[in-house]
Amino acid sequence: MRTPIFAANWKLNHGPSDARAFLQRFLPQVPRFDDRTLAFFPPALTLPAVVEALRDRPEVLVGVQNVHSEPAGAYTGENAVAIARDAGARLVLVGHSERRHVFGESDEATGRKVRLALDAHLTPMLCVGETLAEREAGETESVVLRQLAAGLGAVTDAEVGQVLLAYEPVWAIGTGRTATPADASAIHTVLRTALRSRVGERGAGVPILYGGSVNRGNVQELLAAPEVDGVLVGGASLDADGWSAIVRTELSR
Ligand code: 13P
Repeated sequence: MRTPIFAANWKLNHGPSDARAFLQRFLPQVPRFDDRTLAFFPPALTLPAVVEALRDRPEVLVGVQNVHSEPAGAYTGENAVAIARDAGARLVLVGHSERRHVFGESDEATGRKVRLALDAHLTPMLCVGETLAEREAGETESVVLRQLAAGLGAVTDAEVGQVLLAYEPVWAIGTGRTATPADASAIHTVLRTALRSRVGERGAGVPILYGGSVNRGNVQELLAAPEVDGVLVGGASLDADGWSAIVRTELSR
């Protein structure tokens, strides 16, 4: 049984002071769950404040939103896996659609980042998803399978179970347009089948999160859909009370 994951991607929101205030309000509302995992992806400059504020809540995971595709060197302005780990990150998003489509991140770079993350003892959350044009052209499956294969290209079969996946259709991110539970389930099933065909039963343990305009009104239904093992949430994770309501969603399976 895969434990559902509720992950907040704050993008460029919440500096250290806001994040401390958020957690001061959020944490007392939220018990130490044993049936779900919570994670925050704050901006890199905010991460140490979040790690510090969660000192007494080690069950809540913290990650960075991106790392550079080289482990070290002369790369002004970038963040390295080892530095992220040293700062207290345990997770890293790789290949978020904004990295791919705003910053031009290649499939190949995602593969390098997943490898570097594992080497640095960070858990990568590999994000895949099609654009609206790709969806309308009937390319959704081929796009996500290509992104999956590239992202896991440098991962051994034995390591596949150490990776998290997130399916985030680009057309659903920040648009208010959510994939239906059936849409999400269908693509998650495609990803699950690909994982199983690569590594057999080990592929059954990899959580696959859904992201894209998840909110309080749709989260329960999405989490009830087959193969949807969690949610990766942007806008609806920014308000402490709103996010606390979402993470306390009653799970129906
Ligand atoms: P929204 O929840 O704001 O659509 O963002 C989704 C996302 O990109 C999470 O990584």
